[in-house]
Amino acid sequence: MAKIGLVGFGGIGIEAAKALVLDPSLTCDIVAFDRPEALSQVPGAQVGAYEEILDAIGILQTGHTMRLTSDVKDLEGCDAIIFTAGLPRRADQSRADLIGVNVPIVGGLAKEIGKAAQGAFLVMVTNPLDAMVELAFRNLGFPETHVIGQAGVLDTGRFNIAASLATGVPASQVDCVVMGGHGPEMVPIYSTAKVAYKPLTDLINSERVAQITREVRDRGRTIIQRQGRSATFSTAIAAVRMAKAYLLDTREVMACCTRLNGEYGYNGIYGGVPTVISRAGGKAVEIPLTASEMVAFDESMNATKAMIAELDQVSR
Ligand code: LAC
Repeated sequence: MAKIGLVGFGGIGIEAAKALVLDPSLTCDIVAFDRPEALSQVPGAQVGAYEEILDAIGILQTGHTMRLTSDVKDLEGCDAIIFTAGLPRRADQSRADLIGVNVPIVGGLAKEIGKAAQGAFLVMVTNPLDAMVELAFRNLGFPETHVIGQAGVLDTGRFNIAASLATGVPASQVDCVVMGGHGPEMVPIYSTAKVAYKPLTDLINSERVAQITREVRDRGRTIIQRQGRSATFSTAIAAVRMAKAYLLDTREVMACCTRLNGEYGYNGIYGGVPTVISRAGGKAVEIPLTASEMVAFDESMNATKAMIAELDQVSR
């Protein structure tokens, strides 16, 4: 049975556990980890959420098992880890604003996980994603194929549903991708966007294209403004989809934050690109981009580089 670690049992970790329990295609042993201070709080929202999920396993009568722990050693033997520990942003913050507060949390935990859970495939979710995945990679000691970031799956999902709503075609027939970093410079790729086999741009005008681009880029913030906290359900679904692709060796290609080895002209840096996920881990895939998409991708990578420079300063 696959063992899945959830590092951080807050909003996203809890939703990830629910998604795993509801998924009949993957019976798994879930180990949810959080800090002892968080788990011993009274009233204990996290312990309550854990008990509810246990009850759901009882109701569904599945083979899942689940534990809640504050001991990193319990992550030993994990096949996959979804890492969400750290603070989420508020509506008045950019994702990049979180770098100072999340560097010590992510860096310290990654080091401990590196000792406890060698061999696992780790999906980083904590923001600012493009810097946190690099920080985790540096501290875990895992191969680069086994440390990838979740952002593109969520951003791509947002693009897919916007294209679906704009054209009236169900999302199952929509095939879009968002590349670049998980920030305001992210790049929805229109040149390959298809809706029921037709180019998306044949079906919508340029104003609609601009509107969708704005919506996709702003979606994270508008969700915080509306519900008072950042996206948890959609983010968790995206991370679980990536972990499942690894565990079930599906070889699906999805947008992930993956360490580049020459792809798109970049080396030794994480970038949001189509990535094939199999039991061998994640590997970047090159797709053709137009010249203006490549320029936009470069701009987004420049934002990532600036964040990595800040990371180097903060973690020095
Ligand atoms: C978002 C956060 C999770 O995009 O980054 O909603």
